[in-house]
This record gives sequence, structure tokens and C-alpha cells, in this order.
Amino acid sequence: MTKTQIWTSVFLGLFILLFFLQQLTKQEEVKSPPAMKENYPEETVTQELNGMQLINSFGCITCHGGDLKGSPKAPTLYGLNENYSRDKLINYLRNPNSFMDSDRFKEFKEKYKNVIMPSYNNRDVKDLGKMADYLLTLQ
Ligand code: HEC
Repeated sequence: MTKTQIWTSVFLGLFILLFFLQQLTKQEEVKSPPAMKENYPEETVTQELNGMQLINSFGCITCHGGDLKGSPKAPTLYGLNENYSRDKLINYLRNPNSFMDSDRFKEFKEKYKNVIMPSYNNRDVKDLGKMADYLLTLQ
């Protein structure tokens, strides 16, 4: 082989090597996104919902109406700040039965005879607090 032939083959060899290296890294790129995706569900679970989103996800709207202004099943959730402080509202959500003695609730019982406001005492108090904060802004 002449010197020129040797250099040519060296360069060719280098090019082939580079080509394979490129192919290898390409494959890795293709592989990495699914690996990252595995983390996504966890992120969505730990992502915090705000008060309004919590109210939607807890299903309050199925009884209190899509706009929370009441339905034939349950009263409006507007103007709660006339009767509730934040703590009182959280307590109510955890144990609605303990409020039944007041006249307002006797009226509710008459009006929404077959519907029972569920108690949310098994829920995270932090979430109940966020919902209470949001509800108390509704005027
Ligand atoms: C199954 C139907 C239903 C669901 C679901 C429901 N509620 Fe109620 N809610 C009622 C009824 C009925 C009342 C009226 C009181 C009673 O009869 O117990 C009420 C009363 C209330 C009151 C008291 C209103 C007042 O003027 O004192 C608040 C506050 C309330 N609900 C908040 C919520 C929130 C927040 C959610 C979701 C986390 C929710 N409710 C889900 C049926 C429901």
C-alpha cells in the first residue's frame, strides 16, 4: 500500500467509526424519553391542586351545582362567610352531622329530604382548608 492508500483507509475507518458512534447515541436518545416519562405520573400525583380544583375533584358540584349556586339537591355555597369562619367550615366538612341542631339545618333537612351531605373527615385537613379558603371567597 502507498502512503495515500493508508491515509485514505484511516480516514474511511474514522468515518465508519463516527457513523456507528452516531447511531449508538441516536438509539440512546430514543430510549431516554420513555425512561423519563416514568416519572411523570408521580409528578401529577404530588402536584398540588388548588381549592377550586379540589372542589371539582371531590364531586361537590354533583349536588351543589356546577356553579356551586345550589341545585334541587343541595343549597348554594355562596355567602358562606356570613355563617362560617374558616375553622368552622372545616369542622362542618369533617362532620356535618354535628351542625344538624341549628334552625338553618332543620330547614335544609326539610328542603333536601333525600340527600345527605357527606362527611369528609377522612380527607387531608390541608385540602379541606384550601377548599374552605376558596368557598369563603364566593359572594
Ligand atoms: C350527595 C350530595 C352532596 C355532596 C356530594 C356535597 N354536599 Fe354539601 N350539602 C348537601 C346537602 C343536602 C346540604 C344541606 C345540609 C343537609 O341537608 O345536610 C349540604 C350542605 C353543605 C354546606 C352547608 C351550607 C350552609 O349554608 O350552611 C356546605 C358548606 C357544603 N355542603 C359544602 C360541600 C362541599 C365543600 C362539598 C364537596 C367537598 C359538598 N358539600 C358535597 C349535599 C351534598
